[in-house]
Amino acid sequence: MPGWHHVPVQIQRAAVVGLGTMGAGIVEVLARSGLAVTGLEASEELLAKGRGRLDASLDRAVARARLDSDERAAIGSRTSFTADPATLTDVDLVVEAVPERLEIKTDLFRRLDAICPAGAIFATNTSSLPVTAIAAASGRPGRVVGMHFFNPAPVMRLVEVVSTLLTDTDARDAVLDLARRCGKTPVAVGDRAGFIANTLLVGYLGHAARLVDTGTATVADIDAAMTAACGLPMGPLRLSDLIGLDVVVEILRVLDEEFRSPRYAVAPLLRRLVLAGRLGVKSGEGFYRYDGGRPIVSAGAPPATGAAEPTQTAPAPVVLAGSAGGGAADDAVAVAAAFGGLVTVASPDGLADPHAPVLVPLGADPSRLAALRGGVPRAVGVHLPRAPRTAPVVEIVRPDTATASSLADIAAARAQAEAAGRTVVVSRPRRGYVVEALLFAHLDDAARMVGDGYASAADVDTAMTLGCGYPAGPFAMLAEVGPDAVASALPDPTPLLGELT
Ligand SMILES: NC(=O)c1ccc[n+]([C@@H]2O[C@H](COP(=O)([O-])OP(=O)(O)OC[C@H]3O[C@@H](n4cnc5c(N)ncnc54)[C@H](O)[C@@H]3O)[C@@H](O)[C@H]2O)c1
Repeated sequence: MPGWHHVPVQIQRAAVVGLGTMGAGIVEVLARSGLAVTGLEASEELLAKGRGRLDASLDRAVARARLDSDERAAIGSRTSFTADPATLTDVDLVVEAVPERLEIKTDLFRRLDAICPAGAIFATNTSSLPVTAIAAASGRPGRVVGMHFFNPAPVMRLVEVVSTLLTDTDARDAVLDLARRCGKTPVAVGDRAGFIANTLLVGYLGHAARLVDTGTATVADIDAAMTAACGLPMGPLRLSDLIGLDVVVEILRVLDEEFRSPRYAVAPLLRRLVLAGRLGVKSGEGFYRYDGGRPIVSAGAPPATGAAEPTQTAPAPVVLAGSAGGGAADDAVAVAAAFGGLVTVASPDGLADPHAPVLVPLGADPSRLAALRGGVPRAVGVHLPRAPRTAPVVEIVRPDTATASSLADIAAARAQAEAAGRTVVVSRPRRGYVVEALLFAHLDDAARMVGDGYASAADVDTAMTLGCGYPAGPFAMLAEVGPDAVASALPDPTPLLGELT
């Protein structure tokens, strides 16, 4: 009978294996919640290093008055360290945070299975390996769960608690309970590649890399636009650099293998950056170069047509009245406001000055611009993306056939919108341009995950806010933007968007 030998578990004593970036943080989380925790490393030398990581983090917490010195001393008395796995004979829980390789994790659990009590739970912090494969090889499949923390573990409140087809419910419930005792917000999920947070986040990061690779917009513009339009703490390319481009590529590979969806296609540029050893912050260079001070964009070809300086003598632009459909009738007024409210709105036959640039409000589909450019040679396409924070972002369209003079008009329009306090992204004329292309596909992914029955909308929002630092989860953003707007912009929207409308 599965689970017969287990008493209902209140986890009191834990071991954490691997005291690297994640493991040292997990020791801190568990010890702060009152557990007795043993840290295990591969050698005495690595043990000393891991201990140093924990001490540095606790010192920082004391310095910032987030921990008082008595509590720090108590944590010290609850933690112990060893390089000898044979000492782990008296634990209720083992959390492993060893390197992300299946054979390292299965070897470890197989060895510990012969040492630890039969009912002890083995939790893996894996981000991308199948928890089921680790469980099946462990010698105690019913006691294996995923306990997926986010970096930095002491700070991020999300824990994804993953159960497999083999997991005993009491083991899962004990880990959920422990996560809550540690002040975390757990979400219970099944074993699927990427769980909730990485599937949604990394799909979006991969998409942003494809926009760079296809020259749709520059690295700096994409990051600035997504930060401003959605209130995100950083743009997708900066975040990819921070996570590590090798990690992003590996998670995309695992997602692609599991789901076989073009959503997880790896941009050739991203793959080449990894082959070149440009892994992001940890190697000093990725999409950006990091050598102290502000990161400088280093990857992604500049748009083929290059940038142009605004001409000094350009006459004030005029906004063309009307819209391309899909947008509101007052598109022209909104565009005029985005450029500082000083530009005049004219009907197509009222364009008095043939030398003035003409700002053309575009819907999600840029084809109005191509149709107009014959008759209005100085047309500059403008799109105001629908996003949770619409007002700050202006998308200016750069046709692939742009001439030197139209590039000068685009540069002048950019300077004017920036002077009016807007964040500007210059985009190739692609459906959805940058903000809606990235955001709407991301929101559709979230709705698809709920439609698939993998997670609830509430758990998706919890995962993305507490695991990825979003100011609002995808479903909160969907409510803001309107599910119908998202559905109508996508070629193959998930049916759930229709139900949410
Ligand atoms: N870094 C992140 O942001 C992050 C986030 C969530 C999950 N994860 C997952 O957490 C795990 C660890 O990641 P990390 O970034 O902390 O890795 P890391 O390389 O910083 O740390 C791994 C540690 O494990 C130790 N180790 C290796 N073999 C061991 C063994 N047999 N016994 C004891 N210790 C051993 C290493 O010495 C090293 O200190 C991986 O599965 C990773 O996918 C990482």
